[in-house]
Amino acid sequence: MEIVRTVKDLRAKTRQWRNENQSISFVPTMGALHKGHISLVHNAKSIADKVVVSIFINPTQFNEKNDFSCYPKEEKKDIEMLEKAGANLVFIPTADEMYPKGFSSSVTVSGVSDCLCGGSRAGHFEGVATVVTKLLLQVLPDVAVFGEKDYQQLQVIKRLVQDLDVPVKIVGSPTMREKDGLAMSSRNARLNEKQRHAATNIYAVLNSIAIDASNGLDIEKACEHGKKALIDSGFSYVDYLEIRDAETLEIRKKTIDKQARIFCAAQIGSVRLIDNIAVSF
Ligand code: PAJ
Repeated sequence: MEIVRTVKDLRAKTRQWRNENQSISFVPTMGALHKGHISLVHNAKSIADKVVVSIFINPTQFNEKNDFSCYPKEEKKDIEMLEKAGANLVFIPTADEMYPKGFSSSVTVSGVSDCLCGGSRAGHFEGVATVVTKLLLQVLPDVAVFGEKDYQQLQVIKRLVQDLDVPVKIVGSPTMREKDGLAMSSRNARLNEKQRHAATNIYAVLNSIAIDASNGLDIEKACEHGKKALIDSGFSYVDYLEIRDAETLEIRKKTIDKQARIFCAAQIGSVRLIDNIAVSF
């Protein structure tokens, strides 16, 4: 597995692979890897000849300075995990490599970026869309794999690739969960024992709303009950708990025969957790 830190070295390697007619899949990450990230690498490996993974803690997508400076940095462990998972190349650029002096462009995706996490994390999706556009143009992969754990992010990327004619196929990969259902996240390590126990309620509440909705019960009432259940179990705040269209992310109040998802973001202690699942009516 090769490790490169500059766009020049990255391009030299991917150009060589393209000349040899090898297909390339790409998994962008911010490091502090867990089994969820590794499942994307396995998925990427099954659909292309070569797998490129990037590790870059992108400063522009953090709306809180503290969240950025506290983001875990585990480069050595990450490299070992990626080597074991069979990645072929890891791209670890510096902030100066990604945002050299004078950098002043950005990519804004309206519509799908505006609701859910876009509502409460100002500038977050602009930061994500800009860095992912750069990474896709740097790597020029045939396929890029993103987790459904960050479902809104996946839709934002699908939209921007379509709108800007970026020649890459975007593939969604299922959410990896702990045995008790909690979606894997690097943030879970910041939960104490009591909070970790309460955190499992997000997945439980999502599932119970999915059952209510598919049984034709009132969606808004089901979501209200879900919010209350989360607060009662120890969450301090529920940012959103909503059913939305799976593609446009428009709010869904009635049961109609189209793919939908239930989305939740909730705060426990200092940790904001997000999760989502599919629901069919
Ligand atoms: P990061 O949070 O490191 O996540 C990298 C990828 O791993 C994303 O596609 C995310 O959805 C996926 N992922 C995280 N937890 C997962 C889980 N439990 N199961 C399956 N996939 C999971 O998302 C980002 O980084 C950044 O915004 C990035 C796209 C790299 C741009 O900076």
